[in-house]
Amino acid sequence: MSKILLLGGTGWLGKTLSRLALEGNHRLTALARGTEAFAPGATAVVADRAAPDAYAKVEKDDWDLVIELTSTPEFAREALGRLGGTARNWVFVSSCSAYADQSEPGADETARVLNPLAVDDRHAEPDYGRAKSTCEELSRRVRDGRVLVVRPGLIGGPGDPSGRSSYWPLRFAESRDPVLVPADPDSRQSVQILDVRDLAAFILDAGLAGLHGFANAVGAQHTLGQALGMARDAAAAVAPTEAPAPAHTLAEYDLARMEGDRVNPWAGPRSLPLVLPADPEFAGFARRSDARALSMGLRRRSLRETFEDIVRAGDGTGTASLRSGLAAEEETALLLR
Ligand SMILES: NC(=O)c1ccc[n+]([C@@H]2O[C@H](COP(=O)([O-])OP(=O)(O)OC[C@H]3O[C@@H](n4cnc5c(N)ncnc54)[C@H](OP(=O)(O)O)[C@@H]3O)[C@@H](O)[C@H]2O)c1
Repeated sequence: MSKILLLGGTGWLGKTLSRLALEGNHRLTALARGTEAFAPGATAVVADRAAPDAYAKVEKDDWDLVIELTSTPEFAREALGRLGGTARNWVFVSSCSAYADQSEPGADETARVLNPLAVDDRHAEPDYGRAKSTCEELSRRVRDGRVLVVRPGLIGGPGDPSGRSSYWPLRFAESRDPVLVPADPDSRQSVQILDVRDLAAFILDAGLAGLHGFANAVGAQHTLGQALGMARDAAAAVAPTEAPAPAHTLAEYDLARMEGDRVNPWAGPRSLPLVLPADPEFAGFARRSDARALSMGLRRRSLRETFEDIVRAGDGTGTASLRSGLAAEEETALLLR
């Protein structure tokens, strides 16, 4: 049994990490303000990391592993100052957004990262990648290299708060017909979704094993067409026998229309989730090398399995409440144009 401190714990990954650590019979303490619930069984330390005494309740302990989820360099610096000298192992959860260039397919962990910010800059949304790069740099420096920097690509799975991984399987589980799908989805489109449960297991296992260095934590690479096919198959497989999934007609939508129709790529309202912008700048997006993480022990379930679990967890609720995708009326209007 190890003593693990999670800096975070109320978000999606944080709760998944907490659950998994507790299932593994570790002692799990999570520190956050508590804007959402902590995982049941976690020892919750409610603290605002902007406050001077934020770490008072945790800084005297001997931690086998600290897992840091922040994107705020000030928070990363303070936590490293208070805990970084004594914690046995440290994982910083960064992001593939920390990379300076998203245009090179197959790029590995040696690729250049964005220039770090001045540490006192408050993390602002457009600077997410630079903020992560800054936290990476601070972690490496204070820990003298004894840190595992995990760079997830797109995280997916049941409960995805962004809706990016859920839209397509849940859309195929709905009865509305036809389904608007990208035409020629394999042309320039790649998908790498890592299941949040596999990411959490990797962070815990590699972190507790004391592995150091950098690792892209990305899903297996698929074309968008393959991913859509798996979403469709998953919806059919999960549908109850008394109400089988509808045999949808696919209405192919020319992606060249997106700008004129004000349909967003990738994520958010009025979007086609997982569809990348046409810009060559994104030619390496969702095509990152996964070799290092696999050699460090990352194990991945299939994307089809992730999609099936999304449909099961959705329990017939459909796409209406997702933060990404087309609303039913938007889809219908686009199909009528
Ligand atoms: N989703 C993706 O596809 C993706 C891709 C790449 C990387 N990532 C990274 O993966 C991680 C996801 O973590 P997550 O799902 O658990 O959600 P998150 O929202 O990124 O977690 C942030 C945590 O920090 C806590 N926090 C924020 N401000 C705080 C403050 N002032 N004081 C104390 N705690 C504070 C939040 O809790 P409270 O609000 O309760 O304080 C929350 O538990 C992040 O590191 C993210 O950058 C995500």
